[in-house]
Amino acid sequence: MKRGRILILWNQVKADDDVVELWRRDGRRTPDWDPTKIIEPWDTVAEEIAMIADCVREAGHEVTSHNIEDNFDNLREVVERVDPDAVMNLIEWFHDDLENETFVPAFFELRGTAYTGNRPLALALCQKKPHAKALLAANRLPVPRGIVVERGAAPPDAELGLRYPLIVKPAFDDASGGIDAGSVVRTRSELDARVEKVVVAAKMPALVEEFIEGREIHCAIIGNHPPRALPLYEMQFDPDGVDNEGRALPGIITYRAKWDPFSRDYYAMESKCPVEGLAPELVAKIQGIAIRAYQVLGCRDYARVDMRLDPKTNEPYILEVNPNPDLADSCAYAQCVRASGRTYGQAIQEIVGFALERATVKVKREPAPSESLIREYTAQRNRSAR
Ligand SMILES: Nc1ncnc2c1ncn2[C@@H]1O[C@H](COP(=O)(O)OP(=O)(O)O)[C@@H](O)[C@H]1O
Ligand SMILES: [Mg+2]
Repeated sequence: MKRGRILILWNQVKADDDVVELWRRDGRRTPDWDPTKIIEPWDTVAEEIAMIADCVREAGHEVTSHNIEDNFDNLREVVERVDPDAVMNLIEWFHDDLENETFVPAFFELRGTAYTGNRPLALALCQKKPHAKALLAANRLPVPRGIVVERGAAPPDAELGLRYPLIVKPAFDDASGGIDAGSVVRTRSELDARVEKVVVAAKMPALVEEFIEGREIHCAIIGNHPPRALPLYEMQFDPDGVDNEGRALPGIITYRAKWDPFSRDYYAMESKCPVEGLAPELVAKIQGIAIRAYQVLGCRDYARVDMRLDPKTNEPYILEVNPNPDLADSCAYAQCVRASGRTYGQAIQEIVGFALERATVKVKREPAPSESLIREYTAQRNRSAR
């Protein structure tokens, strides 16, 4: 592999704002609801980035890693000073706004700097879940049926055309934001209350979808020509799980389950990779659907596709495509990488290699998102014209 000057960029307002750092400082070790449990706080973001930097360095690259501290001048200054062959872009938000995630690579594009990961349009499309789903559905990929409620209440049940139970999610959030035990609704009054909570209280359009009760499977993807699916990952849920308020957990990845190791939600789920007890043909089918989703949304380098399996038909449904999943050693993507036989370091180096290749070889631009959709439309029009 060609060696290069690599700049790893990440964003945290201040390093000592890291919640893990705060827990360590507090010395908090046990949750209130079970003092016998001992919690080992995970790594801070800075530690995770340092591990990634070591992996890149091991491949012989010259590495600088930099926290832009949520400041555009810092971003511009460091890119200009280091003038890297490629940026490893690990920035997921800017100025407390997920939407700004999209504009960070736009800066690299305008500057002509190669970078790892997804381009602005793929990031923007995936972040707007309803838009992504419309494109996936138009490409005949399976997504749960759903509607968006922009303001007011959901239409009357007769017009809704959806079967309960339903799940109500913020339409443009990420990382289980706004998702808790109350997100799954089984009656009209629960639906109305939950939609109000998202639309009125959180001031965000609500995505109301049919709730797929079955197993939750994630498929990590790596690469471009062609993209490859990694072994499947499953998140398993305790059927008797309850949250800190004593509400039954409906078997979903809630915000607390993801981010709060002191919560009951956190203890009610467990990951497995590779997935067990799925026929090889079904595994291949799920991976094929994930790769198609990645292509339809114009993804490149790496992404993770979240899915659920309908328990009756075993049909996989795409919940979302994550075009900028966390690459930290403790996260799902790393687990999938290891299950594929790669070391963590090899995967990180592979990803850096994609950007370096673009920096050195004059590569044809990646297909724009939905190019395949446009091709499909053209084919349809030609067919109907005949
Ligand atoms: N239609 C659905 N059916 C079943 N579970 C869902 C559905 N939509 C979301 N979930 C649950 O909520 C979690 C978060 O939803 P997701 O769409 O992946 O958004 P994000 O991860 O960006 O917050 C999923 O991992 C899954 O557990
Ligand atoms: Mg998700």
